[in-house]
Amino acid sequence: QTVDGRGGVLLPGFVDLHTHLREPGREDTETIETGSAAAALGGYTAVFAMANTDPVADTAVLTDHVWRRGQAVGLVDVHPVGAVTVGLQGTQLAELGAMADGDAHVKMFSDDGKCVHDPLLMRRALEYARGLGVLIAQHAEEPRLTVGAIAHEGPNAARLGLAGWPRSAEESIVARDAILARDAGGRVHICHASTAGTVELLRWAKAQGIAITAEVTPHHLLLDDSRLQTYDAVNKVNPPLREDSDCVALRAALAEGVIDCVATDHAPHAEQEKCCEFAAARPGMLGLQTALSVIAATMVADGALDWRGVARVMSERPAEIVGLPDQGRPIAIGEPANLTVVDPDATWTVDASALASRSANTPFDSMTLPARVVATVLRGRVTAIDGEVRAL
Ligand code: NCD
Ligand code: ZN
Ligand code: ZN
Ligand code: ZN
Repeated sequence: QTVDGRGGVLLPGFVDLHTHLREPGREDTETIETGSAAAALGGYTAVFAMANTDPVADTAVLTDHVWRRGQAVGLVDVHPVGAVTVGLQGTQLAELGAMADGDAHVKMFSDDGKCVHDPLLMRRALEYARGLGVLIAQHAEEPRLTVGAIAHEGPNAARLGLAGWPRSAEESIVARDAILARDAGGRVHICHASTAGTVELLRWAKAQGIAITAEVTPHHLLLDDSRLQTYDAVNKVNPPLREDSDCVALRAALAEGVIDCVATDHAPHAEQEKCCEFAAARPGMLGLQTALSVIAATMVADGALDWRGVARVMSERPAEIVGLPDQGRPIAIGEPANLTVVDPDATWTVDASALASRSANTPFDSMTLPARVVATVLRGRVTAIDGEVRAL
């Protein structure tokens, strides 16, 4: 199939370092198949599937299963993220080497567990990861500094009575892990950076030559905590939506390169998990199909990034961070290409019920957004075109 890209912007296929596909365990909210469709429609050619599935992806059997299932679906390369510990709140390091050596060649391991509490475990994980040449992804949340199931702070949250996950819960872990990475020699990647203070810590750590990278989500760039006034749980997410001044700092850091890349943290949840009271609702929001348009709205529209910059933060840098040689770069003639074609002049209105995801928990529902993915090409084969996926 050929793609008529006239008038479009041609970009390397997007790479998402942070996706939740919920398979195995919660196939009622997303599967590798439905999540892959959402990814292809969003312009992605590679996604990293987080380990907090049921069972947890803490062995090569599981990570290889996720990789093979993604290849069988064939819409996007689904790279499993391995769990750092055995089980989600484990006290013991998982066999990172076995996962790295398996068919999936696991390149990134997520803390989502005990490492965040236990600095010695984090240090050992960094040392192990250094030996393997892989990356530790840190969700940067110190649970003992949080109050309640979700945390918010700042004037809006205080007025609304939402207890929570303060800046210190994120920033103290970023500071700790930067220093642990310096001394253990491993590489740490900060997931969903959300505060102006985290930006300053990243700036400091990078200036010291510490091997630290970071991502920001589209929703933390666009949305602030004024959205919480309705108590609509669609706005509940880890880390919480912060203040407008944080959004401004995150955008500037992404433009400058202090934050390396955009990652969606696509987190599907069932309707009943989002329609209950705010305090009881699950945190997380969809992101794969809206990411490019939210980046266009927050970064391209005001000139903070040009399309070359979009290629950098959505494709080149994430591919470099995990070491994907066939992604995130221009292609040579005759080489199978991973590409995304974007119509920069299109606008569209998000309809949550029309998304390919099995869930509908998007805070962007009914918003009119600029720019749209026209086509996605994975190794020379069209995977999505004009809003429809092309299965194998
Ligand atoms: C994620 C999920 O639902 O798995 N939720 C979220 O709010 N981001 C977990 C996570 O990334 O912390
Ligand atoms: Zn986490
Ligand atoms: Zn997280
Ligand atoms: Zn996540």
